[in-house]
Amino acid sequence: MNAAVRTQVAIVGAGPAGLVLSHLLAEAGIASVVIDSRSREEIESTIRAGILEQGTVDLLAGIPGSRVHSVGSRHDGIELRFDGAGHRIDFTGLAGRSVWLFPQHEALRDLIAARVASGQDLRFGWTATAIEGADGERPRVIATDDAGGALAIEADFVVGADGSRSVVRRAISGSHDGFFREYPFGWFGILCEAPPSADELIYSNSPDGFALISQRSPTVQRMYFQCDPDADADAMSDAQIWDALQTRVPGHALIEGPIFQRDVLRLRSFVARTLRQGRLAIVGDAAHTVPPTGAKGMNLAVADVVLLARALEELLLRSDAHLIDAWADAALDRIWKAQHFSWWMTSMLHVAPGATEFDRRRQLGELRTVASSEAGRTYLAEGYTGWPLG
Ligand code: DHB
Repeated sequence: MNAAVRTQVAIVGAGPAGLVLSHLLAEAGIASVVIDSRSREEIESTIRAGILEQGTVDLLAGIPGSRVHSVGSRHDGIELRFDGAGHRIDFTGLAGRSVWLFPQHEALRDLIAARVASGQDLRFGWTATAIEGADGERPRVIATDDAGGALAIEADFVVGADGSRSVVRRAISGSHDGFFREYPFGWFGILCEAPPSADELIYSNSPDGFALISQRSPTVQRMYFQCDPDADADAMSDAQIWDALQTRVPGHALIEGPIFQRDVLRLRSFVARTLRQGRLAIVGDAAHTVPPTGAKGMNLAVADVVLLARALEELLLRSDAHLIDAWADAALDRIWKAQHFSWWMTSMLHVAPGATEFDRRRQLGELRTVASSEAGRTYLAEGYTGWPLG
């Protein structure tokens, strides 16, 4: 069965970027169709990071039914830990802003429910296979579903919010055209049933590498430790995992509990060379990847689409192209700041394989510089809580 639909904006991908964009466009009176290759259940159950910047929270809180304030919890600081001692970074005192711990899949549940309630054309299980007419005024997204159906969405503008293997990026510039860096370590992540080990998140550097003690709820905790990027998540026993975590957080006793999920993630930085070409643009993970340290991924995706929604409003409602012509540079300004912040947190806290005694002592010098100076702590607090949405 072949079908064709026509809309103002075709959005490929129903993750945070695609859903927030469809919400902002609808508020401006612009129609969109959103497709995603995954099922709703898959999207709502994928475990990702949990930290939202103030600007992201303010936007989500304005969407009907949002639970960000009721289920999420405000965090006014973090602990930076090294050399066996903790140092608090006071976000509200230093930057006048906080962050919120609200797992991404919970944010996605809210966003999907809100879009469905407003009658959004949102289709799960549809995989974009090609973009046609990319150089013209009426680009088309071609998609298929598992049942062999085919769909053509003709639009005034196509947005790729379709993740790191973006089909829309391929239509713009070739799938890997951009700036890329791979780190020589990964993160071993767990979810466990236990009370929080501390009031705030702990970012810990130790001679054995990095660990992050994060949280999910009063009874479920999320923790990570630096590992080989090719590590097998099933190769370690629970006791070995707790030992690895505890060794990397010296001087702070972790509260252990049954581990019910484990995964290994690779650390990468990427920025696509071209974010927009004519009436195609890419946002979120399709446009960039950051290593997870500092949890910038979803926040950056939201910032991309806040700017893009304004530009599309000018273009589609007032036939004014000046904002869309300036959009990629405006988005890249923040993207490269976030790239730097994520790279900096990552390199300051991890121990690279083959690090020398010089490297190790220099790193401790850097950590002491940041923790002991108000300027250093402020720099971290401003980057972590996020720059205001321009
Ligand atoms: C989480 C992940 C991060 O990368 C981070 O910096 C903070 C928290 C998390 O999953 O909870």
